[in-house]
Amino acid sequence: MDPDAARRAAGEAAVPLVEDGMRVGLGTGTTARWFILGLAERVRQGLSIHAVATSVASATLASEGGIHVDELGPDGLDLAVDGADSVDPALSLIKGRGGAMLREKVVAVAAARYVVIVDDSKYMSRLQGRVPVEVVHFGSVWTLHALAERTSLEFTLRTGPDGVPFITDNGNLLVDSEYTDIADPAELAALIASVPGVAGYGLFLGMTDLVLVGHSDGSVEQLTAPGDTVGSGG
Ligand code: A5P
Repeated sequence: MDPDAARRAAGEAAVPLVEDGMRVGLGTGTTARWFILGLAERVRQGLSIHAVATSVASATLASEGGIHVDELGPDGLDLAVDGADSVDPALSLIKGRGGAMLREKVVAVAAARYVVIVDDSKYMSRLQGRVPVEVVHFGSVWTLHALAERTSLEFTLRTGPDGVPFITDNGNLLVDSEYTDIADPAELAALIASVPGVAGYGLFLGMTDLVLVGHSDGSVEQLTAPGDTVGSGG
């Protein structure tokens, strides 16, 4: 099992979905990186797109590859492509291991078509993992307390190796819930969203149109409806 080969297969499989003139959202992470690199190659060959990036890191990668990065305009996007940390059969997602989920959710909702690219380790019968929550600085100690009280989960401030708090591209703090097997994603999302001070969180429910699941042999499965595998290819 080579996770990078699987991520590459998924990311590159999304590149042909982009058509000339499209407004395209660029995701963040190691899988989205393959999509951006493939798209940059097409742009260098003459494809014309309007791109919006979900993070400073992806904007930099895109610009270095020759993709012009714009602001998100009032008409939204035709297509957005992004990775995920966990995908369930309803195509619900956990995102935000890289801390970019607030911008990622804005782009996902602004897109007419939202395509998720993952390696096969990310697809599971129930969402599992740590759900990250972006919180504003003001009152963050109380916000953490309220999140724990309402969700019955522990939340930990994300820090770097030096112990300094991780700061998002939006200038906010990030807290991670403990690893959990999520029985009711909608209920957990509502509890998190009910806490003032929460700027964003990594549960993406009812947003995904297509999931491309890459395997280390280079094949890619397409999941377009809850639980349905509708095709595969090299
Ligand atoms: C960024 O904050 C995340 O939401 C990523 O999109 C997600 O963690 C997937 O990243 P990888 O493709 O690196 O696993």
